[in-house]
Formats: sequence, C-alpha cells, structure tokens
Amino acid sequence: MRIAVLGGDGFVGWPTALHLSDLGHEVHIIDNLSRRWIDTELGVQSLTPMDSIQERCRIWHQETGRRIHFHLLDLATEYERLKLWLGESRPDAVIHFAEQRAAPYSMKTDRHKVYTVNNNTNATHNLLAALVETGIDAHLVHLGTMGVYGYSTVGAPIPEGYLDVVIDTPNGPREQQILYPTRPGSVYHMTKSLDQILFQFYAQNDGLRITDLHQGIVWGTHTDQTRRHEQLINRFDYDGDYGTVLNRFLIQAAIDYPLTVHGTGGQTRAFIHIQDCVRCIELALSDAPKSGERVRIFNQMTETHRVRDLAEMVSGMTGAKIAWLPNPRKEADENDLIVTNDQFLSLGLQPITLAEGLLAEVVDVARKYAHRIDRSRVPAVSAWTKDLAQRVEHDPEGKRLRSVS
Ligand SMILES: NC(=O)c1ccc[n+]([C@@H]2O[C@H](COP(=O)([O-])OP(=O)(O)OC[C@H]3O[C@@H](n4cnc5c(N)ncnc54)[C@H](O)[C@@H]3O)[C@@H](O)[C@H]2O)c1
Repeated sequence: MRIAVLGGDGFVGWPTALHLSDLGHEVHIIDNLSRRWIDTELGVQSLTPMDSIQERCRIWHQETGRRIHFHLLDLATEYERLKLWLGESRPDAVIHFAEQRAAPYSMKTDRHKVYTVNNNTNATHNLLAALVETGIDAHLVHLGTMGVYGYSTVGAPIPEGYLDVVIDTPNGPREQQILYPTRPGSVYHMTKSLDQILFQFYAQNDGLRITDLHQGIVWGTHTDQTRRHEQLINRFDYDGDYGTVLNRFLIQAAIDYPLTVHGTGGQTRAFIHIQDCVRCIELALSDAPKSGERVRIFNQMTETHRVRDLAEMVSGMTGAKIAWLPNPRKEADENDLIVTNDQFLSLGLQPITLAEGLLAEVVDVARKYAHRIDRSRVPAVSAWTKDLAQRVEHDPEGKRLRSVS
C-alpha cells in the first residue's frame, strides 16, 4: 500500500512510519515540524537525541534499502498544497497523527488554546474536505484519545465508540446506538471530541472510510525498528507539558528527582506500550470499514492503572521518593476506569505489560540519557484555571526552601 503518515516526525508517527515501511509499504511522511518548534518555544528537548527527519530517513534507507519520503506541509494552513499532494500521490491509506497533542500545552495561555483549536480542527477538516474533493478512496486512520470521555466514575465499561440507548418515543421505547458522550477535560481533549463529529459527518455524507483509534497514554521508547540504529531512536518527552506520566516517572527515578504525583494520585488512566501502538495501527489498516459504514472506533489501550500505584511501582523498583503536589488540573481526585478493548485482542494483539517492560526502560533509556535532562523543565506548571495557577508547585525538589538559610 501507499500510506501517508501525517505527523510522522512525532513520538508515535515516527515508529509507525518505520514499522509500515518495514512491512513493505510505500511510506510518505507529511509533517510541518511544529513539534520541534514547540520544543524551541518551551526551551526543552527530547531526552533521546533526535536527528533531523531527513537524516532519520537517510539512515533508514542505509540500514534497510527502503525509502521513506518526507514532505514539509502544514495540514492546518496549506489546504491547496495538501489537496494537490493527495490528488497526485493518491495514497491507499492516510494515518492522521498531525495535531497538537499535549493537554497542559493547550491550557497554558489563551494563545495556546487558540493555537490548539485552530491547528487540530483545521488539520482534520482540511484533510476530510481534500479527500472528498480529490475523490480518493483512502482508508483514514485517526489517532484519538481515551481522554475524550473524561474521567468521572461511571461504573460501567467504556465501550468501543458507541453506546446502546433506549429513547422514549410516543410510540414506545426505541433502541438506538449513539456516539459515546464525550466530556473533555482540556482544550486539547475538546479538539479530539470535535474531530469525532467531523468524522461522523463525512462518513455519513460522503462515504469516507474512517477508523478512529481512541488511544491510551503511550509509554516506552523503542520499537523493533527504532532499535536498529542509534540515529533511528524515537523521541522521548519528559518536560511538564509534553512528558506523559509514566515516562516522566522513569526519568525522575533516573535522576533522583522525586516522582511528582498531583493530588491524591487517584486518577486512573489507560496505557499502551509504543510497540503495541504501531502493531494496533497495522491491525486497524488491515480491517478497513467499507464506504457507507459508520466510523469504526477502537479503544487502543492495554491496561489501566492508578497514578499513585504507578509511582509506587517505579519507586519500589528504583528507590525513588514520591512528592505529593497540588494538582494544576481541574479533574476528579479519584476515578475508576474500565475499558473494553476486545476488537484489537480479537485481531491478534498480544499486549506488552508494564511488568515486563518497565525496568528495561529505566536502564536502557532513562539512565542512559539522564545527562540530557534539564531539571528545571521537569515540574508540570500549566494550570487549568487562574485559581489553580496560584497553588502550582514550581519547585518540587524544595531547593527554594533549602536555600533560605
Ligand atoms: N503520545 C500519547 O501518549 C498519545 C495518547 C493518546 C493519543 N495520542 C494521539 O496520537 C497522535 C500522535 O501523538 P504523538 O505523541 O506522536 O504527538 P507528537 O506531538 O509527538 O507528534 C505530532 C506530530 O504532528 C505534527 N503536526 C502537528 N500539527 C501539524 C500540522 N498542522 N501539519 C503537519 N504536521 C503537524 C508535529 O510536528 C508532530 O511531528 C496525536 O494526535 C495524539 O493526540 C497520543
């Protein structure tokens, strides 16, 4: 297949591009490299040393003889170029990762909120409109998030996209399936909820074939392909905005920084290893919906954990201390989370569990590159409201307190 990987320079996009190229597909990465600019804006860098996208593609060719093509294009602002590229290249499948994906970044200031909504909503809508206009029958696979559902306790498992409801009508009760209601907890999650509606409309109106993967929090760094050469290494975000909770605990343990648990740590979240992500995308590609079918939705996660249990697990493995900090997010202190993921399991996914992979991550990645960490970028300081901003802890190590004497 000819596959366009939109956002293929990112944390999940790059290993996906390698995985699909390795399977023999013709892979085209489209990316505006905005994530690299955001690193510059925030004054942070990936824990792992990342080469330019062109250099990464060159090394892949040198190692495997396969080519990955790179196209510098902004999906949100360059509609005509996007349409032209799709019309000329006519991909069989399009995988859409190209959005601003950090909830804390989306809540930093009003400017970050506006950027996130403009970027994500326009990127998705431009893509859909261009697919219709060019008449390409490509299977669109989008990376959504489990976070669209919010994290209040419902008590029932979250189904794969659709909820059975019974509606009272004048002629008696009628059964229906509706999109599972969203309850986004940040501007970023709100854009992913809007994406769902855009997909529903274009599948129904234009017969676009769409799969939406509601992904859990990704942990880990390496996949079989990124391991093949030092310069193929994946990015690893550890800073307070882009670092995801478990990857942050791993680097905190590696540099003897207290594991930062916000609030009670009673937040339960869904997780998936990066190797399983790329496998899930391969599985989703092999099981495309037909034109006229409703959007196919998968829950792309393999296990759920409470944040404080994760901290205790990492602390038990490494001896790291835990720091209990005020929560800069507006969210429930404690929640349960039960998620159905039967579709991927039935397609043959064999999940990598935290228990298997965690220690290797600490040793092979976090400790190896610990010298690249800027401790001042570790605290999570983006607050969800002005009130919450008052109590954000900027110095979890307490250096400020110690230096008073
Ligand atoms: N990382 C996770 O834990 C996680 C969890 C759930 C869902 N997701 C979803 O998976 C997708 C990929 O996540 P990631 O962690 O790889 O993010 P990332 O930020 O590392 O990668 C996103 C890529 O998209 C590019 N991009 C952004 N806007 C663009 C635009 N307008 N035009 C072209 N390129 C653009 C960026 O430059 C970047 O390379 C995201 O949509 C995210 O919402 C990620």
